[in-house]
Amino acid sequence: MLKTVSKTKKLTGEITIPADKSVSHRAVMFSSIADGKSVIKNFSNGADCISTVNLFKQLGVNIEFKDEKTLEIIGGKLLKPIKPLNAGNSGTTMRLVSGILAGQDFESIITGDESLSKRPMKRIIEPLKLMGADISSMDGKAPLYIKGKNLCGINYNSQISSAQVKSCILLAGLNENTNGTTIYTEPYLSRNHTELMLKYLDADIEFEECTTKISSGRLSAKNIEVIGDISSAAFFIVAGLIVEGSDFIIKNVGINPTRTGILDVVKKMGGNIDLINERKISGEMVADIRVQYTENLKGCEISGADIPRLIDELPVIAVLASQAEGETVVRDAQDLRNKETDRITCLVSELQKIGVDIFEQNDGFVVYGNKKKGLSGDAELQVFHDHRLAMSFYVAGLVSEKQIAIKDFEWINISFPEFESLMTSLIND
Ligand code: S3P
Repeated sequence: MLKTVSKTKKLTGEITIPADKSVSHRAVMFSSIADGKSVIKNFSNGADCISTVNLFKQLGVNIEFKDEKTLEIIGGKLLKPIKPLNAGNSGTTMRLVSGILAGQDFESIITGDESLSKRPMKRIIEPLKLMGADISSMDGKAPLYIKGKNLCGINYNSQISSAQVKSCILLAGLNENTNGTTIYTEPYLSRNHTELMLKYLDADIEFEECTTKISSGRLSAKNIEVIGDISSAAFFIVAGLIVEGSDFIIKNVGINPTRTGILDVVKKMGGNIDLINERKISGEMVADIRVQYTENLKGCEISGADIPRLIDELPVIAVLASQAEGETVVRDAQDLRNKETDRITCLVSELQKIGVDIFEQNDGFVVYGNKKKGLSGDAELQVFHDHRLAMSFYVAGLVSEKQIAIKDFEWINISFPEFESLMTSLIND
Protein backbone atom coordinates (compact mmCIF):
# COMPACT_ATOMS: atom_id res chain seq x y z
CA MET A 1 0.00 0.00 0.00
CA LEU A 2 1.37 3.42 -1.01
CA LYS A 3 0.57 5.92 1.76
CA THR A 4 0.78 9.63 1.10
CA VAL A 5 1.38 12.00 4.01
CA SER A 6 1.04 15.79 3.89
CA LYS A 7 1.95 18.63 6.22
CA THR A 8 -0.55 18.62 9.08
CA LYS A 9 -2.34 21.16 11.23
CA LYS A 10 -1.69 21.09 14.97
CA LEU A 11 -2.32 17.91 16.97
CA THR A 12 -4.53 18.24 20.04
CA GLY A 13 -6.72 16.07 22.28
CA GLU A 14 -6.12 12.82 24.07
CA ILE A 15 -5.24 9.27 22.95
CA THR A 16 -4.69 5.95 24.73
CA ILE A 17 -1.67 4.11 23.50
CA PRO A 18 -2.11 0.38 22.68
CA ALA A 19 -0.44 -2.46 24.53
CA ASP A 20 3.30 -2.95 24.84
CA LYS A 21 4.60 -5.51 22.35
CA SER A 22 7.45 -6.81 24.55
CA VAL A 23 5.16 -7.26 27.54
CA SER A 24 2.38 -8.85 25.44
CA HIS A 25 4.77 -11.47 24.02
CA ARG A 26 6.03 -12.35 27.49
CA ALA A 27 2.52 -12.49 28.96
CA VAL A 28 1.52 -15.17 26.41
CA MET A 29 4.75 -17.15 26.71
CA PHE A 30 4.92 -17.18 30.48
CA SER A 31 1.21 -17.89 30.94
CA SER A 32 1.54 -20.78 28.49
CA ILE A 33 4.18 -22.47 30.66
CA ALA A 34 2.57 -21.51 34.00
CA ASP A 35 0.33 -23.94 35.88
CA GLY A 36 -3.33 -22.98 35.47
CA LYS A 37 -5.53 -20.28 34.00
CA SER A 38 -4.47 -16.69 33.29
CA VAL A 39 -6.41 -13.80 31.81
CA ILE A 40 -4.39 -11.26 29.85
CA LYS A 41 -6.02 -7.86 29.48
CA ASN A 42 -5.11 -5.16 26.97
CA PHE A 43 -3.14 -7.53 24.73
CA SER A 44 -1.33 -6.10 21.65
CA ASN A 45 -3.18 -6.95 18.42
CA GLY A 46 -0.12 -6.39 16.22
CA ALA A 47 0.90 -9.26 13.92
CA ASP A 48 4.06 -9.99 15.94
CA CYS A 49 2.17 -10.83 19.12
CA ILE A 50 -0.38 -12.85 17.15
CA SER A 51 2.59 -14.93 15.87
CA THR A 52 3.41 -15.75 19.50
CA VAL A 53 -0.22 -16.74 20.22
CA ASN A 54 -0.39 -19.02 17.16
CA LEU A 55 2.95 -20.60 17.99
CA PHE A 56 1.88 -21.57 21.53
CA LYS A 57 -1.42 -22.94 20.16
CA GLN A 58 0.75 -25.22 17.96
CA LEU A 59 2.51 -26.30 21.16
CA GLY A 60 -0.83 -27.52 22.50
CA VAL A 61 -1.69 -24.57 24.76
CA ASN A 62 -5.34 -23.65 25.09
CA ILE A 63 -5.51 -19.92 24.19
CA GLU A 64 -8.81 -18.20 23.57
CA PHE A 65 -9.61 -14.58 22.67
CA LYS A 66 -12.46 -13.47 24.96
CA ASP A 67 -12.61 -10.17 23.07
CA GLU A 68 -10.24 -8.27 20.75
CA LYS A 69 -7.78 -7.50 23.55
CA THR A 70 -8.49 -10.13 26.23
CA LEU A 71 -6.95 -13.59 26.18
CA GLU A 72 -7.60 -16.58 28.37
CA ILE A 73 -4.75 -19.07 28.58
CA ILE A 74 -4.67 -22.46 30.26
CA GLY A 75 -0.97 -23.15 30.74
CA GLY A 76 0.92 -26.31 31.61
CA LYS A 77 3.03 -28.84 29.76
CA LEU A 78 3.91 -28.06 26.13
CA LEU A 79 3.36 -30.72 23.45
CA LYS A 80 5.51 -31.67 20.45
CA PRO A 81 4.32 -29.59 17.46
CA ILE A 82 3.29 -31.50 14.35
CA LYS A 83 4.58 -28.85 11.93
CA PRO A 84 7.46 -26.32 12.02
CA LEU A 85 6.66 -23.38 14.31
CA ASN A 86 6.44 -20.00 12.57
CA ALA A 87 7.65 -16.82 14.34
CA GLY A 88 6.68 -14.62 11.35
CA ASN A 89 8.55 -11.30 11.49
CA SER A 90 9.12 -11.44 15.24
CA GLY A 91 12.68 -11.69 16.59
CA THR A 92 11.34 -11.63 20.15
CA THR A 93 9.22 -14.72 19.43
CA MET A 94 12.01 -16.71 17.80
CA ARG A 95 14.69 -15.89 20.37
CA LEU A 96 12.64 -16.24 23.56
CA VAL A 97 10.78 -19.36 22.44
CA SER A 98 14.09 -21.05 21.54
CA GLY A 99 15.09 -20.79 25.21
CA ILE A 100 11.86 -22.56 26.19
CA LEU A 101 12.11 -25.24 23.46
CA ALA A 102 15.76 -26.11 24.20
CA GLY A 103 14.75 -27.73 27.51
CA GLN A 104 11.62 -29.64 26.36
CA ASP A 105 11.44 -33.40 25.88
CA PHE A 106 10.64 -33.12 22.14
CA GLU A 107 12.13 -31.91 18.85
CA SER A 108 10.94 -28.77 17.08
CA ILE A 109 11.76 -26.49 14.16
CA ILE A 110 11.23 -22.75 14.27
CA THR A 111 11.07 -20.65 11.08
CA GLY A 112 10.46 -16.99 10.24
CA ASP A 113 9.68 -14.69 7.33
CA GLU A 114 12.25 -13.36 4.86
CA SER A 115 13.42 -10.53 7.14
CA LEU A 116 13.64 -12.70 10.29
CA SER A 117 15.50 -15.42 8.37
CA LYS A 118 18.34 -12.92 7.77
CA ARG A 119 18.71 -11.92 11.43
CA PRO A 120 21.53 -13.27 13.63
CA MET A 121 20.66 -16.21 15.87
CA LYS A 122 24.23 -17.13 16.90
CA ARG A 123 23.78 -14.77 19.84
CA ILE A 124 21.30 -17.27 21.35
CA ILE A 125 22.69 -20.50 19.86
CA GLU A 126 26.12 -20.08 21.48
CA PRO A 127 24.99 -19.62 25.10
CA LEU A 128 22.25 -22.26 24.68
CA LYS A 129 24.91 -24.73 23.52
CA LEU A 130 26.98 -23.89 26.59
CA MET A 131 23.94 -25.00 28.59
CA GLY A 132 24.03 -28.31 26.71
CA ALA A 133 21.33 -27.52 24.15
CA ASP A 134 21.17 -29.38 20.84
CA ILE A 135 20.36 -26.67 18.33
CA SER A 136 21.40 -26.31 14.72
CA SER A 137 20.78 -23.61 12.14
CA MET A 138 21.55 -22.42 8.62
CA ASP A 139 24.86 -20.67 9.35
CA GLY A 140 23.54 -18.98 12.49
CA LYS A 141 20.21 -18.02 10.88
CA ALA A 142 16.69 -19.45 10.97
CA PRO A 143 15.25 -22.03 10.60
CA LEU A 144 16.45 -23.41 13.93
CA TYR A 145 16.32 -27.17 14.58
CA ILE A 146 16.03 -27.83 18.30
CA LYS A 147 16.24 -31.26 19.96
CA GLY A 148 14.99 -30.64 23.48
CA LYS A 149 17.34 -31.90 26.24
CA ASN A 150 17.99 -31.53 29.94
CA LEU A 151 20.12 -28.40 30.30
CA CYS A 152 22.56 -27.17 32.92
CA GLY A 153 22.86 -23.67 34.37
CA ILE A 154 25.69 -21.37 33.23
CA ASN A 155 27.36 -18.17 34.34
CA TYR A 156 27.28 -16.11 31.15
CA ASN A 157 28.81 -12.69 30.44
CA SER A 158 27.13 -11.41 27.30
CA GLN A 159 29.05 -9.07 24.97
CA ILE A 160 25.80 -7.38 23.89
CA SER A 161 22.98 -5.73 25.82
CA SER A 162 20.01 -7.55 24.34
CA ALA A 163 16.79 -8.30 26.20
CA GLN A 164 15.99 -11.02 23.70
CA VAL A 165 19.23 -12.90 24.34
CA LYS A 166 18.95 -12.35 28.10
CA SER A 167 15.35 -13.58 28.16
CA CYS A 168 16.17 -16.65 26.05
CA ILE A 169 18.87 -17.75 28.49
CA LEU A 170 16.77 -16.97 31.57
CA LEU A 171 13.90 -19.06 30.16
CA ALA A 172 16.30 -21.95 29.46
CA GLY A 173 17.52 -21.61 33.06
CA LEU A 174 13.94 -21.62 34.37
CA ASN A 175 13.08 -24.94 32.69
CA GLU A 176 12.18 -27.50 35.37
CA ASN A 177 14.73 -29.98 33.96
CA THR A 178 17.61 -27.50 34.06
CA ASN A 179 20.25 -28.45 36.57
CA GLY A 180 21.70 -25.67 38.74
CA THR A 181 21.49 -21.90 38.69
CA THR A 182 21.89 -19.66 35.64
CA ILE A 183 23.59 -16.28 36.03
CA TYR A 184 23.41 -13.79 33.17
CA THR A 185 25.35 -10.50 33.00
CA GLU A 186 25.11 -7.88 30.24
CA PRO A 187 27.26 -4.76 29.61
CA TYR A 188 24.36 -2.28 30.05
CA LEU A 189 20.92 -3.05 31.40
CA SER A 190 18.46 -3.92 28.60
CA ARG A 191 14.67 -3.92 29.10
CA ASN A 192 13.81 -6.00 32.17
CA HIS A 193 10.19 -7.02 31.49
CA THR A 194 11.19 -10.70 31.64
CA GLU A 195 12.73 -10.34 35.08
CA LEU A 196 9.77 -8.32 36.44
CA MET A 197 7.14 -10.65 35.03
CA LEU A 198 8.91 -13.85 36.09
CA LYS A 199 9.18 -12.45 39.61
CA TYR A 200 5.48 -11.50 39.54
CA LEU A 201 4.72 -15.12 38.54
CA ASP A 202 6.76 -16.45 41.53
CA ALA A 203 9.93 -17.64 39.72
CA ASP A 204 13.08 -18.10 41.78
CA ILE A 205 14.80 -15.04 40.25
CA GLU A 206 16.99 -12.23 41.61
CA PHE A 207 18.39 -9.24 39.74
CA GLU A 208 20.60 -6.32 40.51
CA GLU A 209 22.06 -3.84 38.04
CA CYS A 210 23.20 -5.85 34.98
CA THR A 211 23.16 -9.34 36.53
CA THR A 212 20.23 -11.75 36.85
CA LYS A 213 20.20 -15.11 38.61
CA ILE A 214 17.49 -17.72 38.01
CA SER A 215 16.86 -21.32 39.13
CA SER A 216 14.59 -23.92 37.61
CA GLY A 217 10.97 -24.09 38.70
CA ARG A 218 7.32 -23.70 37.73
CA LEU A 219 5.45 -20.42 37.32
CA SER A 220 2.13 -19.56 38.97
CA ALA A 221 -0.65 -18.55 36.60
CA LYS A 222 -1.83 -14.99 37.35
CA ASN A 223 -3.85 -12.35 35.54
CA ILE A 224 -1.75 -9.78 33.68
CA GLU A 225 -2.80 -6.35 32.43
CA VAL A 226 -0.47 -5.14 29.69
CA ILE A 227 0.72 -1.52 29.89
CA GLY A 228 0.78 0.90 26.92
CA ASP A 229 3.82 0.76 24.65
CA ILE A 230 6.33 3.62 25.03
CA SER A 231 7.85 2.58 21.68
CA SER A 232 4.47 3.25 20.02
CA ALA A 233 4.01 6.43 22.07
CA ALA A 234 7.40 7.64 20.77
CA PHE A 235 5.95 8.43 17.31
CA PHE A 236 3.33 10.64 18.95
CA ILE A 237 5.81 12.24 21.35
CA VAL A 238 7.98 13.29 18.40
CA ALA A 239 4.99 14.41 16.31
CA GLY A 240 3.71 16.54 19.21
CA LEU A 241 7.11 18.19 19.72
CA ILE A 242 7.63 19.10 16.05
CA VAL A 243 4.14 19.92 14.68
CA GLU A 244 3.52 23.60 15.41
CA GLY A 245 0.79 24.37 17.97
CA SER A 246 0.41 20.76 19.19
CA ASP A 247 -0.60 20.00 22.78
CA PHE A 248 -2.06 16.59 23.71
CA ILE A 249 -2.09 13.81 26.26
CA ILE A 250 -1.00 10.22 25.65
CA LYS A 251 -2.61 7.97 28.26
CA ASN A 252 -1.38 4.72 29.82
CA VAL A 253 2.25 4.71 28.69
CA GLY A 254 4.70 2.24 30.28
CA ILE A 255 7.56 4.13 31.93
CA ASN A 256 9.77 1.24 33.02
CA PRO A 257 13.19 2.98 33.42
CA THR A 258 14.80 0.43 31.05
CA ARG A 259 12.56 1.86 28.27
CA THR A 260 12.48 5.61 28.97
CA GLY A 261 15.64 6.65 27.10
CA ILE A 262 13.40 8.58 24.67
CA LEU A 263 12.05 10.72 27.52
CA ASP A 264 15.59 11.54 28.69
CA VAL A 265 16.60 12.51 25.14
CA VAL A 266 13.55 14.75 24.77
CA LYS A 267 14.45 16.46 28.06
CA LYS A 268 18.09 16.88 26.94
CA MET A 269 16.84 18.47 23.70
CA GLY A 270 14.64 20.88 25.69
CA GLY A 271 11.30 19.35 24.66
CA ASN A 272 8.09 20.12 26.57
CA ILE A 273 6.83 16.88 28.07
CA ASP A 274 5.32 16.16 31.47
CA LEU A 275 4.48 12.88 33.17
CA ILE A 276 1.21 12.83 35.09
CA ASN A 277 -0.74 10.27 37.11
CA GLU A 278 2.16 7.81 37.64
CA ARG A 279 0.94 4.39 38.82
CA LYS A 280 1.82 0.66 38.81
CA ILE A 281 0.02 -2.05 36.76
CA SER A 282 0.96 -5.78 37.04
CA GLY A 283 4.44 -4.90 38.33
CA GLU A 284 5.16 -2.19 35.71
CA MET A 285 5.09 1.65 36.07
CA VAL A 286 2.79 3.68 33.81
CA ALA A 287 1.95 7.38 33.37
CA ASP A 288 0.03 9.75 31.12
CA ILE A 289 2.31 11.99 29.09
CA ARG A 290 1.51 15.58 28.05
CA VAL A 291 3.41 16.65 24.95
CA GLN A 292 3.60 20.23 23.69
CA TYR A 293 5.12 21.70 20.54
CA THR A 294 8.60 23.00 21.29
CA GLU A 295 10.05 25.83 19.21
CA ASN A 296 13.70 25.61 20.21
CA LEU A 297 14.84 21.99 20.36
CA LYS A 298 18.59 21.47 20.43
CA GLY A 299 20.71 18.54 19.26
CA CYS A 300 22.34 16.14 21.71
CA GLU A 301 24.61 13.11 21.99
CA ILE A 302 23.18 9.61 22.56
CA SER A 303 25.50 6.69 23.41
CA GLY A 304 26.53 3.94 25.84
CA ALA A 305 24.00 2.87 28.49
CA ASP A 306 21.30 5.06 26.86
CA ILE A 307 21.22 2.90 23.71
CA PRO A 308 19.39 -0.23 24.98
CA ARG A 309 16.91 2.12 26.71
CA LEU A 310 15.82 3.61 23.37
CA ILE A 311 17.06 1.20 20.69
CA ASP A 312 13.68 0.96 18.94
CA GLU A 313 13.10 4.72 19.09
CA LEU A 314 16.27 5.75 17.22
CA PRO A 315 14.56 6.03 13.80
CA VAL A 316 11.97 8.50 15.08
CA ILE A 317 14.62 10.28 17.19
CA ALA A 318 16.43 10.97 13.88
CA VAL A 319 13.26 12.73 12.68
CA LEU A 320 13.13 14.73 15.94
CA ALA A 321 16.82 15.67 15.54
CA SER A 322 16.11 17.02 12.05
CA GLN A 323 13.83 19.62 13.68
CA ALA A 324 16.34 20.65 16.37
CA GLU A 325 19.15 23.17 16.07
CA GLY A 326 22.62 21.66 15.85
CA GLU A 327 24.17 18.26 15.77
CA THR A 328 22.67 15.04 17.16
CA VAL A 329 25.19 12.20 17.30
CA VAL A 330 24.16 8.56 17.92
CA ARG A 331 27.01 6.17 18.83
CA ASP A 332 27.31 2.57 20.14
CA ALA A 333 24.16 1.56 18.25
CA GLN A 334 25.70 -0.94 15.80
CA ASP A 335 23.02 -3.50 16.73
CA LEU A 336 20.55 -1.28 14.83
CA ARG A 337 21.98 -3.01 11.75
CA ASN A 338 20.51 -6.34 13.02
CA LYS A 339 16.88 -5.25 13.41
CA GLU A 340 14.02 -5.90 10.96
CA THR A 341 16.43 -4.39 8.42
CA ASP A 342 19.77 -2.56 8.64
CA ARG A 343 18.15 0.41 10.35
CA ILE A 344 21.25 2.64 9.99
CA THR A 345 21.69 2.37 6.21
CA CYS A 346 17.97 2.34 5.42
CA LEU A 347 17.05 5.20 7.76
CA VAL A 348 19.83 7.40 6.41
CA SER A 349 19.14 6.69 2.72
CA GLU A 350 15.41 7.40 3.01
CA LEU A 351 15.58 10.49 5.25
CA GLN A 352 18.20 12.02 2.93
CA LYS A 353 15.62 11.79 0.11
CA ILE A 354 13.33 14.23 1.95
CA GLY A 355 16.05 16.71 2.83
CA VAL A 356 17.33 15.55 6.23
CA ASP A 357 21.08 16.17 6.69
CA ILE A 358 21.75 12.72 8.16
CA PHE A 359 24.94 10.70 7.69
CA GLU A 360 25.79 7.09 8.37
CA GLN A 361 28.46 6.06 10.90
CA ASN A 362 29.57 2.48 11.63
CA ASP A 363 27.80 2.45 14.97
CA GLY A 364 25.06 5.04 14.46
CA PHE A 365 24.41 8.28 12.59
CA VAL A 366 24.78 12.07 12.78
CA VAL A 367 21.94 14.50 12.07
CA TYR A 368 22.63 18.19 11.38
CA GLY A 369 19.36 19.74 12.47
CA ASN A 370 18.21 22.84 10.64
CA LYS A 371 14.61 23.72 11.29
CA LYS A 372 14.69 26.88 9.17
CA LYS A 373 15.69 24.85 6.11
CA GLY A 374 12.86 22.40 6.87
CA LEU A 375 12.18 19.09 5.15
CA SER A 376 11.51 19.22 1.43
CA GLY A 377 9.40 16.03 1.22
CA ASP A 378 8.43 15.29 -2.39
CA ALA A 379 9.84 11.75 -2.50
CA GLU A 380 8.78 8.12 -2.33
CA LEU A 381 10.31 6.24 0.64
CA GLN A 382 10.86 2.49 1.07
CA VAL A 383 10.31 0.77 4.45
CA PHE A 384 12.37 -2.44 3.95
CA HIS A 385 9.92 -4.74 5.85
CA ASP A 386 10.28 -2.46 8.88
CA HIS A 387 7.26 -1.20 10.81
CA ARG A 388 9.23 1.37 12.81
CA LEU A 389 10.80 2.94 9.71
CA ALA A 390 7.31 3.23 8.17
CA MET A 391 5.91 5.11 11.19
CA SER A 392 9.01 7.31 11.56
CA PHE A 393 8.71 8.40 7.93
CA TYR A 394 5.01 9.15 8.43
CA VAL A 395 5.94 11.51 11.31
CA ALA A 396 8.53 13.20 9.05
CA GLY A 397 5.79 13.65 6.43
CA LEU A 398 3.67 15.60 8.93
CA VAL A 399 6.23 18.47 8.83
CA SER A 400 7.51 18.17 5.24
CA GLU A 401 6.88 21.07 2.81
CA LYS A 402 5.61 18.78 0.04
CA GLN A 403 3.74 15.50 0.35
CA ILE A 404 5.73 12.29 0.80
CA ALA A 405 4.74 8.76 -0.26
CA ILE A 406 5.59 5.67 1.81
CA LYS A 407 5.67 2.32 -0.02
CA ASP A 408 4.38 -0.85 1.69
CA PHE A 409 3.04 1.17 4.61
CA GLU A 410 1.01 -1.88 5.77
CA TRP A 411 4.16 -3.10 7.57
CA ILE A 412 2.94 -0.94 10.49
CA ASN A 413 0.50 -3.79 11.25
CA ILE A 414 3.42 -5.71 12.78
CA SER A 415 3.18 -3.62 15.94
CA PHE A 416 0.61 -0.85 15.63
CA PRO A 417 -2.41 -1.29 13.31
CA GLU A 418 -4.19 1.71 14.92
CA PHE A 419 -1.27 4.10 14.28
CA GLU A 420 -2.83 6.22 11.54
CA SER A 421 -6.34 6.39 12.96
CA LEU A 422 -4.94 7.57 16.32
CA MET A 423 -2.77 10.17 14.59
CA THR A 424 -5.64 11.54 12.49
CA SER A 425 -7.87 11.65 15.61
CA LEU A 426 -5.50 14.36 16.93
CA ILE A 427 -5.64 16.57 13.83
CA ASN A 428 -7.71 19.66 14.57
CA ASP A 429 -8.24 23.16 13.16
C1 S3P B 1 12.90 -6.65 22.50
C2 S3P B 1 14.22 -6.35 22.65
C3 S3P B 1 14.98 -5.50 21.72
C4 S3P B 1 14.04 -4.67 20.85
C5 S3P B 1 12.91 -5.49 20.29
C6 S3P B 1 12.09 -6.08 21.41
C7 S3P B 1 12.25 -7.55 23.48
O1 S3P B 1 15.76 -6.31 20.88
O2 S3P B 1 14.76 -4.06 19.79
O3 S3P B 1 12.07 -4.69 19.48
O4 S3P B 1 11.01 -7.61 23.53
O5 S3P B 1 12.98 -8.20 24.23
P1 S3P B 1 17.24 -6.80 21.32
O6 S3P B 1 17.07 -7.63 22.53
O7 S3P B 1 17.74 -7.59 20.17
O8 S3P B 1 18.02 -5.54 21.56
